[in-house]
Amino acid sequence: MKRIISAIVAVAAALMATGCTSVNEAPDLAYSINSPDGTLTVYAGITADGTPLYRLERNGEAVVLPSRLGFELTDGSSLADGFTITKVEYDTADETWHPVWGEERDIRNHYNEMLITCEQRPEGAKAPQSGVGATDPDYTGDPGNPSGKGAVMQIRFRLYDDGLGFRYEFPQDNKLRYFNIKEELTEFAMSGDHTAWWISGDYDTQEYNYTCSRLSEIGAHSGSTRINNASATGFSDAGVQTALQMKTDDGLYINLHEAAVVNYPTTNLALDERRMVFRTWLTPDAEGVKGRMQAPCVTPWRTVQVCDDARKVLASRLILNLNEPCAIDDVSWIHPVKYMGVWWEMITGKTQWSYTWDVPSVQLGVTDYRALKPHGQHGANNENVMRYIDFAAANGFDAVLVEGWNEGWEDWFGCQKDYVFDFVTPYPDFDLERLNAYAHAKGIRLVMHHETSSSTVNYERHMEAAYQLMNRYGYDAVKSGYVGNIIPYGEHHYSQPLINHYLYAIQRAAEHHIMVNAHEAVRPTGLCRTWPNLIGNESAMGTEYRGAINPGHTCILPFTRLQGGPMDYTPGILEQDMSITAPGQHGKMRHTIANQLGLYVTFYSPLQMAADLPENYERFPDAFQFIKDVAVDWDESLYLEAEPGEYIVTARKPRLQTLNSGRLSGKSGAYQFVYKDGKPHDVWYVGGVCGDKAHEATVALDFLTPGVRYEAVLYADAPDADCDSAPQTYVISRSEAAAGDVIKVPMARGGGFALSLRSL
Ligand code: NOJ
Ligand code: CA
Repeated sequence: MKRIISAIVAVAAALMATGCTSVNEAPDLAYSINSPDGTLTVYAGITADGTPLYRLERNGEAVVLPSRLGFELTDGSSLADGFTITKVEYDTADETWHPVWGEERDIRNHYNEMLITCEQRPEGAKAPQSGVGATDPDYTGDPGNPSGKGAVMQIRFRLYDDGLGFRYEFPQDNKLRYFNIKEELTEFAMSGDHTAWWISGDYDTQEYNYTCSRLSEIGAHSGSTRINNASATGFSDAGVQTALQMKTDDGLYINLHEAAVVNYPTTNLALDERRMVFRTWLTPDAEGVKGRMQAPCVTPWRTVQVCDDARKVLASRLILNLNEPCAIDDVSWIHPVKYMGVWWEMITGKTQWSYTWDVPSVQLGVTDYRALKPHGQHGANNENVMRYIDFAAANGFDAVLVEGWNEGWEDWFGCQKDYVFDFVTPYPDFDLERLNAYAHAKGIRLVMHHETSSSTVNYERHMEAAYQLMNRYGYDAVKSGYVGNIIPYGEHHYSQPLINHYLYAIQRAAEHHIMVNAHEAVRPTGLCRTWPNLIGNESAMGTEYRGAINPGHTCILPFTRLQGGPMDYTPGILEQDMSITAPGQHGKMRHTIANQLGLYVTFYSPLQMAADLPENYERFPDAFQFIKDVAVDWDESLYLEAEPGEYIVTARKPRLQTLNSGRLSGKSGAYQFVYKDGKPHDVWYVGGVCGDKAHEATVALDFLTPGVRYEAVLYADAPDADCDSAPQTYVISRSEAAAGDVIKVPMARGGGFALSLRSL
């Protein structure tokens, strides 16, 4: 329940300008709030020339040094200085909300808030006291701004125990109505040359490996970390992306990100290495504008997460809390999904998305596929899809993704074609009706695939028909994709029009009761709280990069990319050697089998794939058992060990409500595991993943119910396991366990482990 603890403080601007109200050694930052536990304090104010500033402390030590706030506008004016503070309001909230799916059943949203109103009025000008132009002789009357206000910019600070969120707000009662942003000037001045885990700044992709370095080393290394991607646009060697994880020499974890990016571009961070100051660097649209605003409006939240322990970073719900509550009234159709896919065989080159080699230039509606000779390598053919459906049904999965089912794949990549797919016309060997009926009869849903090839124009043109087709045949989830440069030409994956497109696709999908998993779309910023039909995103380097992925990548992503929402990382690759999966291909992935099992617990996603081929799972049935047993939605999550890039160990308790609900009941492997012999057992799953150095995990089973005995099945790296030299050696051991036991589990380089615990 929200509770207002103190009211408005009116402020004399003259006092502010002279700094008379100073409360700390930075004389202009006169206003402050503490986090609920008192450890964090944010100060805000303006300098003598009216420049808004803020700074952040933890127990009296600087986390963010005085940093400026404001904007430059495209018309040459600025919202950077000349402000007076006209009002400061304080508030607090302490509420608990329940996500539709998530890492835990209850999320506490507890913060103190400060809203600072700044007004930029030309010297000498007064606002009318009432009515249009009532007492101000200079006032000429403006129906859009009846009170004659100057430019009004508010800054709302929310301070939590684990970090700060702040955003700009532009109220209706304002000289500003339509205005375009040239630059957002928000800065984050760091207090030292911290260690950082970063990827190079880009307007179009996050599909990069992370680099760990000092902040001062970013500029020198950034260029060499960029790889060839279907669409990539760097802007500076000193640019990095959010979420940026840092660690100070004193062991403090600082994470810069953003929350609730709606109708606004996504930001990168540009580092001034001389001063150790990051500045927001918004993604421009095709005309170079970095935000088209119409008051009343708000920006996304800028966030600074501050934790004294890496495990607290993983437990933080700062980004979700800063998003709006669920906007969907009836959420009964939204559910977690454990799925397989006619997918890895295409990624590895075993089969193709396309149907024929006969047609170099496809024109949908004109090209007659039935007259063309199939090349015989098309993966999405009826027989193969039925094989996956059979396997998925026999092993307790919920769904099967099928890519390459629709016409157009012969001629889509790299040509920036507008009308590329229509999302409704299947290839001749893919029988939409028959395959869906076959799947449904076995308790499986097919997952639709919409590769837009980044022509959002074309996707929006066909979206309604595409969603209607899904409704007609009983698809309730779509994987969308945005490979290549964006059409409208000149736009970027992270520019404002694209941000609006992704949300449009989610909202229209919700009207059709469709869940969305968007690849290559913008990295998430917690919008899944508001739109829980957004059950997944890729937006980072995932399994599709195969051997290019560094060991340790999956020990960084939960600190960075996953802070904004779940990732469709597509784990579960038990065969690392591509030449075995797809004869004639080459390359090896750098993880052990136990590592892939551990990911099902360390990576939170309500949409989890078992990405490998059925035939590879058949070769490792005992390891595959964990993938079958594990749940994907949780009542409780505990972070037992964590260090970015090195290791993560997580324990999770499945959400029974999910297992019992709707069509998951009785069919999913996790249901069968929890409801052994028809009765519910107390179940926990523990997972570990390890980076470039082996690590022994210490798993204290303090979370088990005291006095209860559990059967424990441990899937661990064998003593000789190593991601490069022995990736497939693992040991499975069964034992009894109880609260208070401590299990030591060695994890290999690029290794991991999984542990299931079920009450006897
Ligand atoms: C890139 C996606 O990340 C991948 O999963 C998909 O298979 C291809 N695009 C084709 O759409
Ligand atoms: Ca991708």
